[in-house]
Amino acid sequence: MLSTCVIIPAAGSGSRLGCNEPKAFVRLHGRSLLARSLETTLSSGVASTIVVAAPEEFLFRARDEIAAAMADAECETSITAVAGGLDRIESVQIALKYAADSEIVLVHDAARCLTPPEVFSRVHTAVRSGAEAVVPVLPMIDTVRRALPSESAGAEPTEVLRGDLDRSRLRRVQTPQGFRTATLLRAHAHHRAEAAPATDDAGLVERLGVDVVAVPGHEEALKITYPLDRILGEQLARMRDANAGGPQ
Ligand code: CTP
Ligand code: MG
Repeated sequence: MLSTCVIIPAAGSGSRLGCNEPKAFVRLHGRSLLARSLETTLSSGVASTIVVAAPEEFLFRARDEIAAAMADAECETSITAVAGGLDRIESVQIALKYAADSEIVLVHDAARCLTPPEVFSRVHTAVRSGAEAVVPVLPMIDTVRRALPSESAGAEPTEVLRGDLDRSRLRRVQTPQGFRTATLLRAHAHHRAEAAPATDDAGLVERLGVDVVAVPGHEEALKITYPLDRILGEQLARMRDANAGGPQ
C-alpha cells in the first residue's frame, strides 16, 4: 500500500468560537477537537504517519493528546506534533516538510473533528486510484448571490445583489483533502512564489491547472467555527459516544 501522511492543521486560535483556549483543545462532550480528530484519523486506517500542527505554546498539550490517542488505539502509526504558522496555509506548509517521504498526503482540519472515517476512505481510495487531488463536497443548500458595494450615499455601508449563481453547480468543500504528495508540494511552492490569497490546499493545486476531483462529503463533517456549531457538535459527539458505549 502507498504510504500516507495525514496532516492535521490544529494551530488556529478559534477567534470566531470565542473560547479562552485554542480551538483544537475545546471539548465536545468531554473530548477535545484534536483528540476526536486523531481518533477518527486512526480509526479510518489510512494513515501511515500523522503530523499535527499545533499552536507553539500549546505543543506540550498536543503531545499529551497524541500520547492518549495512541494508547487508546494501540496502533503503530507514528504521530508528530510541530509548531504551526501564522495562517492555515503556513501551518500545512510547515507540516508538509514531515510528509515528504509519503506518496500520498491528506490534509484534515481539526475543526472538522466529527468527520466520519468513511470520508477518509473515499478520499484516499480516489487518490490511490490515480487522482492527483481529491476533495469531499456537499451540495449548496442556500440560495447564493454575488454582493457588490452599493453606490448609495447612506451612513451605513450597503451592498446590492447582482447576478444569479447556478446553485446546482456550486459545492461546499470539506476535509480531508487528498493529494499526491509531489503535487501538493508543487502547489505550495507555487503559492510561495505567487503569494495570492488562498484558504485551502485544493485551491492551490487548482491554480497549477491540475484537476481536483470531488467525492461525496458528509453533513457531520461540519467545521466547528461559531458557537452554534459547537452546540451542534456537542450533541453529535454525545450521540456518537452513547452509541460507542463511551461517556454518557
Ligand atoms: N489553522 C492552523 N494554523 C493557523 C490557523 C488555522 O493550523 N494559523 C487550522 C485550525 O486549527 C483549524 C483549521 O486550520 O483546524 C481551519 O481553520 P479555522 O476553522 O479558521 O480555525 P481557526 O483559525 O482556529 O478559527 P478562527 O478563524 O475563527 O480564528
Ligand atoms: Mg481561521
